[in-house]
Amino acid sequence: MKDGWTLPAAWYSEPAVLQAERERIFTSAWQYAGPLHQVAEPGSFFASVAGHIPVVVTRARDEELRAFVNVCRHRGHVVAQGAACRETLQCPYHAWTYGLDGALRRAPRSEREPSFDASVLSLLPVAVEAWGPFVFVNPDAAAAPLAETLGELPRALADGGVDLDRLRFHSHAEWSQEVNWKVALENYLECYHCPVAHPGFSKVIDVDPDAYRLSVHGFVSSQIGPVRDEPRGGYDPHGELRQSQYHFVWPNTTINVAPGPLNLSIERWVPAGPRTTVEVTDYFFGPDVTEERIQEVIEWDTQVAQEDVALVEGVQAGLDSRAVPQGRLLAESEQLVAAFQRRVFDALA
Ligand code: FES
Ligand SMILES: [Fe+2]
Repeated sequence: MKDGWTLPAAWYSEPAVLQAERERIFTSAWQYAGPLHQVAEPGSFFASVAGHIPVVVTRARDEELRAFVNVCRHRGHVVAQGAACRETLQCPYHAWTYGLDGALRRAPRSEREPSFDASVLSLLPVAVEAWGPFVFVNPDAAAAPLAETLGELPRALADGGVDLDRLRFHSHAEWSQEVNWKVALENYLECYHCPVAHPGFSKVIDVDPDAYRLSVHGFVSSQIGPVRDEPRGGYDPHGELRQSQYHFVWPNTTINVAPGPLNLSIERWVPAGPRTTVEVTDYFFGPDVTEERIQEVIEWDTQVAQEDVALVEGVQAGLDSRAVPQGRLLAESEQLVAAFQRRVFDALA
């Protein structure tokens, strides 16, 4: 891959490329699974995905946090749906029933089969860790600790005034976009387009290249945007946080902090198909933030997200033509995009 040039256009729609990405990227990476409060109680679970792999996060009576591949060991139906407090996970197909520790507890009619050994048919484990109010999973059960992926990120958030322990889950949103996952995340990874495409955002955040800071540290890429001296526009950023923060955790988790009251949103970008990405967002706020201010933050964020969807769909249409086989990146303003593409390239090459 030559410096300054993008990945080939064909990589943004070829099914074989997505298949290779699933095998070489998503099966061995830490990814945001969901909010920890859903498994606060012993005897609770929630279903999620890690890339393309269904997972279920549980807390059994022994209070241990666990996660499993959420695929039945019988004939492969997805086992658990949604989130609930209950002691068992029952597959809806033939009612094989698993404990929250993953063990197969019951398989109807298996007692009629002398060779049936339930002890080797537990749900397959995946790595799981809590970080603040978040649960991360890695389909590779032998993965290195999450802290190695997060690196300096916990400190960067704290330095920016975000105390994870004060955050409370507020709401959940999902958006489907008809674009390849890399198109969506490359758009996230630069604010070169902000002055052109996000006028409301750019009236509040100083998006000048000398003010808006970009950095890449290991698996984490960060963008820190200060509030303008005289912010104008529809969003009032007054409050304890004086800068916006946009952190990307390879390969598909993003963490956003708006200026204003204590807030954070965390997203999982699910590569659902060669041209389909589902953006799943969980919003968190400080315990004292009023609902009115919460709605202001969410509206501001949603405005930017809507503008981004139009942009990325325009990119996908152009890439799909394959008429321009490779693009040219700006070394400074698009350094996070370049780092992302380098990781994709190294994973697939
Ligand atoms: S596939 Fe789950 S019980 Fe048959
Ligand atoms: Fe954008």
